[in-house]
Amino acid sequence: GDSDRINIAIDGPAGAGKSTVARMVAGQLGYVYIDTGAMYRAVTLSAQRLSITAEQEQRLSDMLHSLRIDLEPGVSGQSIFVNGEDVTQLIRSREVTRQVSYFAASAVVRKVLSGMQRNMAGRKGVVMDGRDIGTHVLPDAELKIFLTASVKERALRRFKELPADQSVPLEQLEKEIAERDALDEQREISPLVRAKDAIELDSSHMTIEEVVGSIVKLSRTKLAEA
Ligand code: DC
Repeated sequence: GDSDRINIAIDGPAGAGKSTVARMVAGQLGYVYIDTGAMYRAVTLSAQRLSITAEQEQRLSDMLHSLRIDLEPGVSGQSIFVNGEDVTQLIRSREVTRQVSYFAASAVVRKVLSGMQRNMAGRKGVVMDGRDIGTHVLPDAELKIFLTASVKERALRRFKELPADQSVPLEQLEKEIAERDALDEQREISPLVRAKDAIELDSSHMTIEEVVGSIVKLSRTKLAEA
C-alpha cells in the first residue's frame, strides 16, 4: 500500500548538491527521483529554439501545452525527453543555464510544471529536488530537506565539474551562482525559501555520503512514525 512509502522534498540553491544527493537517496530507498530543475531547463531550451521569450505568456502557454516531458532513470543520472527527443545534455548548456531563471519566474511555466510534478508524486515513493517542492509543489511531503552550502563551496564544486576546454574562472562562477540565487530568491512566484517544517542541512563541510546517510536516516524515522 501507499502507507509504506513517503514523499521527500529536497530544496535549496544551485550547486548545493541536491541532484546527486536526491538521486542517491532515491537509489537507497528504491524510490523514484525527479529532477524538477531539468524540467525548467527543458522548457527553457524549447522556448529558445522557438525564439520565445519569458515575457511572451501566450506563446509560452501554447508551447507548454504541446510539450510532453518524460524523465527516465539512467546509468549516470536521469535522462530527460521532450516530445521523445533526448535533451539530457542540451539542457546543461551555459545558454540554458543563463536564461532558466527568467523562464522559472513565469507564472504559466510554474503552473504547468508544478501540475506535472504533483501528478508524478501522486503515488508516493518520490524524491523530488527543486526550489519550491516543500513550500508549493508538495506541501504535504512527509520529509522536507533544505540543502545549502556556501557560495564559495558551490562555485568550487561547479569549477571541478567543468571540462578543461570549458573552464571558467572561479570568480566568474561565484558571481553567476550569487546572481542566480538572487533571482531565485527574489522572484514573486514561489521564490526559493525554506519551508517552515524543512530540516536545514549545510553541506559545506559534509561529504555526499554523509548528507545521503543523514537524509536516509531521517526518512526511516519518518517511515516508522507513519
Ligand atoms: O537545479 P537547476 O540548476 O537545474 O535549476 C534550474 C533553474 O530552475 C534554477 O535557476 C531555478 C529553477 N527551478 C525552480 O525555479 N523551481 C524548481 N522546482 C526547480 C528549479
